[in-house]
Amino acid sequence: MPYRICFVCLGNICRSPMADVVMRRLVADAGLADRIQIGSAGTGSWHVGSGANPPAVAALHRRGYDGSAHQARQFGAADFADWDLIVGLDASNVADLRRLAPTKDDAATVALLRDFDPASPAGDRDVPDPYGGPEAEFDHALDLVEAACRGLLADLRSEVS
Ligand code: 4NP
Repeated sequence: MPYRICFVCLGNICRSPMADVVMRRLVADAGLADRIQIGSAGTGSWHVGSGANPPAVAALHRRGYDGSAHQARQFGAADFADWDLIVGLDASNVADLRRLAPTKDDAATVALLRDFDPASPAGDRDVPDPYGGPEAEFDHALDLVEAACRGLLADLRSEVS
């Protein structure tokens, strides 16, 4: 059984699709694609069925990732059963997920993405929402996502080996 990780933001069209694509690449490059399964979802329902936001796809493309295959979905209470680790992109995503969790054990599977980045400052560890913002905000979100996903993979190596 692979170790299953789901990234969750608000809309599942900007930040969590970026984390999904970045982590997928890191895991594949580490030769762990059969050991770690990755997905993403949003706490909100507005964009269910949509592709990733075009500026997010463009930011991914500038760094050599392909974000074109994404399809947005909403994270519901029943989804806790399907994942070992549920990673919120900001503190409000984490709070929403913990509120949604059917059990305390489910709530304990929720983590904040930038907590995995050893260089992340204490205090504000959100990946800021770039939706509707300029290109630079998408690039910045991707910087934070890449750094944190590298830390997450380092943590996971002991879990899956
Ligand atoms: P995301 O960005 O949570 O990074 O996917 C958002 C996308 C859409 C909305 C909010 C955030 N929205 O309100 O529609």
